[in-house]
Amino acid sequence: MGSLDHEPVGINPLEYLDERFSGYLADRRRDPRGDILSGLATATYPDGSTPELIEVVRPATFLFAAGQETVTKLLSSALRVLGERPEYQKMLREDRSLIKPFMEESLRFDSPTKIDFRLARKTTTLGGVDIPAGRSSC
Ligand code: HEM
Repeated sequence: MGSLDHEPVGINPLEYLDERFSGYLADRRRDPRGDILSGLATATYPDGSTPELIEVVRPATFLFAAGQETVTKLLSSALRVLGERPEYQKMLREDRSLIKPFMEESLRFDSPTKIDFRLARKTTTLGGVDIPAGRSSC
C-alpha cells in the first residue's frame, strides 16, 4: 500500500535515471568513498538493516534532479542578466560583496522553480480555503 491509501498518483518522472543510479550506488556499496552517494549507499535503518537498493536509488535520483536543474537555471538566468545589463556587471566587479545579494535577487527575478505542487493527504482547511484530500494544489 502506498502512502495515500489508494492508487498511486502517477508514474515516477525520474524513473529513467533508476538504472544509472542503481549502478552508481551498487558501486559505492562495493567501494565506498567520501561522497554523498557513498553516504546514501551505506546508510542503514535504525535497526541496522540495509535498505533494498531501489529504496536508496529513489532519494538519489531526486537529489540529483532537485540540485542539478535548479542550479543550472539560476546560473544561466544570472549570467543572462549580467550579459544584458553591463552596469550590473560593472557594479559587481567593483564591489564583490554585492555578488551574494545579486544571486539572491536573481532567484526572485527569474526563478528556476516557477510552480510547486502539494497533495493533501487528508481533507483540511488552510487559511480559510477548503482543500479536499487527493486534490493537488500550488
Ligand atoms: C538555486 C537552487 C535551488 C532552488 C531554486 C531550489 C528550490 C527548491 C524549492 C522551491 C523547493 C520546495 C520547497 C518547499 O517545499 O516549500 C525545494 C525543495 C528541495 N530541494 Fe531545492 N532548490 C535549489 C537547490 C537544491 C539543491 C542544490 C539540492 C540538493 C542537492 C536541493 C534539494 C532539494 C530537496 C531534497 C528538496 C525537498 C525538501 C523536502 O521536501 O523535504 N535543492 N527546492
